[in-house]
Amino acid sequence: MNRYLISASILSANFALLGEDVDRVINAGSDMIHFDCMDGQYVPNLTFGPIICKSLRNYGIKHPIEIHLMTRSINKLIPKFVESGATHITIHPELVKNLDYTLKLIKSYGCKRGVALNPATSLHYLDYVLDELDHILIMSVNPGFAGQSFIKKTLLKIKQIKKIIVDSGFSINLEVDGGININNVKNIAKSGANIFIIGSAIFKQSDYHFVISSIRQNLFNIDE
Ligand code: DX5
Ligand code: ZN
Repeated sequence: MNRYLISASILSANFALLGEDVDRVINAGSDMIHFDCMDGQYVPNLTFGPIICKSLRNYGIKHPIEIHLMTRSINKLIPKFVESGATHITIHPELVKNLDYTLKLIKSYGCKRGVALNPATSLHYLDYVLDELDHILIMSVNPGFAGQSFIKKTLLKIKQIKKIIVDSGFSINLEVDGGININNVKNIAKSGANIFIIGSAIFKQSDYHFVISSIRQNLFNIDE
């Protein structure tokens, strides 16, 4: 198991050839697939839902698929995504009425569960749920679109959350999502992240393998 994991965010993939493109990014070395479900309400963008996830499974994709839910009706969507082959489900805590309930619901289906915090979302959402989390996702852009620039002040937030995780003693992965590329990944890792969700920096290049291996190279030998 790699200490650092790369999760390819398919929001920037070629939707006309999605199965092939996901296969390509996996063959290029991506450890996970990141699936941004947006409903056009919480964020202005409208993307894809469970039937597309199911299509990827039917196509033969076996890698973990993390669903990043930027939608309303979260508790209704969870079982649909589980049936469609999701392995990880990540929710924005301000969108659910009872965070503890929703995290337990995800776990009851055998999925890994996590919360996503936007750049300006308070860390207080983590109070009282650390024991219910497999991962925490820090948004390093505002959610909604691929291809935005990394917001540098989120490095401080990553450090703060890393400390909270270490102090808690729980085994919780720390993911960062948005604006990650070959040049900034090392700094993000040094701040405490271990899962890097990367969309346009991979899919907008023709050689996915080059990008992913360059990122791994930059993650080699980091002293935390
Ligand atoms: C943004 C999404 C991200 C996005 C990342 O709301 O959550 O997963 O696809 O894309 P890049 O790497 O292009 O910022
Ligand atoms: Zn995402």
